Amino acid sequence: MKSAPKTFHVKSFGCQMNVYDGDRMAELMSAEGLVATDDAHAADLVVLNTCHIREKATEKVYSDIGRIRKEAGKRGGDPMIAVAGCVAQAEGVEIVRRAKVDVVVGPQAYHNLPGLVARAATGTSALDTDMPVDLKFGHLPARRRVSPSTFLTVQEGCDKFCTYCVVPYTRGAEVSRGRAQIVDEAKALVDAGARELTLLGQNVNAWEDDGKGLHDLIADLADIPALARIRYTTSHPNDMAQGLIEAHRDISKLMPFLHLPVQSGSDRVLKAMNRSHSRDSYLRLLDRVRAVRPDIALSGDFIVGFPGETEQDFAETLSLVDAVGYAQAFSFKYSPRPGTPAASMTDQIAPEVMDERLQRLQEALNRDQAAFNAATVGRTCDVLIERKGKLPGQFLGKSPWLHSVHIVGDLAIGDLVSVEITAAGPNSVTGVPKSGHEPLRESAHERNRAAA
Ligand code: SAH
Ligand code: SF4
Ligand code: F3S
Repeated sequence: MKSAPKTFHVKSFGCQMNVYDGDRMAELMSAEGLVATDDAHAADLVVLNTCHIREKATEKVYSDIGRIRKEAGKRGGDPMIAVAGCVAQAEGVEIVRRAKVDVVVGPQAYHNLPGLVARAATGTSALDTDMPVDLKFGHLPARRRVSPSTFLTVQEGCDKFCTYCVVPYTRGAEVSRGRAQIVDEAKALVDAGARELTLLGQNVNAWEDDGKGLHDLIADLADIPALARIRYTTSHPNDMAQGLIEAHRDISKLMPFLHLPVQSGSDRVLKAMNRSHSRDSYLRLLDRVRAVRPDIALSGDFIVGFPGETEQDFAETLSLVDAVGYAQAFSFKYSPRPGTPAASMTDQIAPEVMDERLQRLQEALNRDQAAFNAATVGRTCDVLIERKGKLPGQFLGKSPWLHSVHIVGDLAIGDLVSVEITAAGPNSVTGVPKSGHEPLRESAHERNRAAA
């Protein structure tokens, strides 16, 4: 029998919301008096916060469990293992059977983690994959110390049921958190050091509360004086309200960046994916966004090799990429997921065809990203300093368009500095602080630095 753990380590594998959940679980365990450790092989409790989106992501958890047991075992340890996240939701008790883990907890139930750990310490494996109507957020401890750029979940779940995707099953139906609760958490995050908040949701632009939409929430948050920047992700093309588009013109704290996945440029494939938007409606939507905010940086997600995708369909994806000119994007090979409609479609694409298409798509996306970066050279913008770089005196921050900016200067993490972009590479740009610039320093950061 394992005794009650004293130290813990949380490892997150998935999307930004998965990272947010991992942070909240860590806060929860700290509030219970456990001590966080960076060394996964030395912790008494290891929380593997998993992702189910593609097969590789799912399999990773099983190899990790094996490795942690082996490495910890070499040091005489036998850690308690908790599997959280989307694999926990999808596979449930199967994980206990296959890997003999101590705790399985789904993404809507992790506020119960301390109780589950206590039960596991008595020798019985503990499982909770409920999706309660009452969201977990009200049961989590207050936010205390966070980085300058921080996530804030405002919406969860998905009702879209794209035929390839597990998220509607692992995260449940679309639910919005209440406006007052979000504003309270935002204020706590800002007090704890956040200068930029990224509002998260599987369909974040579907957020609503009492007739108010995401743009109203963004306007509320923009009123928090010490909050400098607001972002949101991920949006669905069908939930992109006019008010949200106009917020990109009217709310200066809302950054000029939009991640709007399209998946494919072929109407035939979009229909088979159940995306419920067309190539043309997507392109017209982007025209409307660019009309109010010409410098907006666009980002997207793509899947190559969806069942039945022909060379002609794929050529339409490439031509959509050419038409948009993305500042950055994510592209994936289609991965059949158990229980989704696309997994049982007959015309699955051969792996070597997928490899070849992914390579061509990524060449096009890389070309556009490099062109976007190059086009910003000579511009002056604010950069939020997020961490130290590898070289002495070097810092890394983000521009309004979300590129990584390397800067050398007398700076500190959390500064918002005016920078001239002087050079561009494929994945990042280099900037020089404008002379005579007084870095803006927030009291919370002074506190964090003093505490560090
Ligand atoms: N809710 C968001 C993102 C969900 S998952 C949206 O709809 O845009 C993030 C990305 O993973 C998706 O946009 C898609 O490009 C990719 N993805 C989802 N399921 C996949 C699968 N079965 N195979 C390959 N990529 C997938
Ligand atoms: Fe998945 Fe589609 Fe929902 Fe995005 S919109 S989470 S891709 S089902
Ligand atoms: Fe993965 Fe779940 Fe996020 S499947 S992408 S961790 S919502």
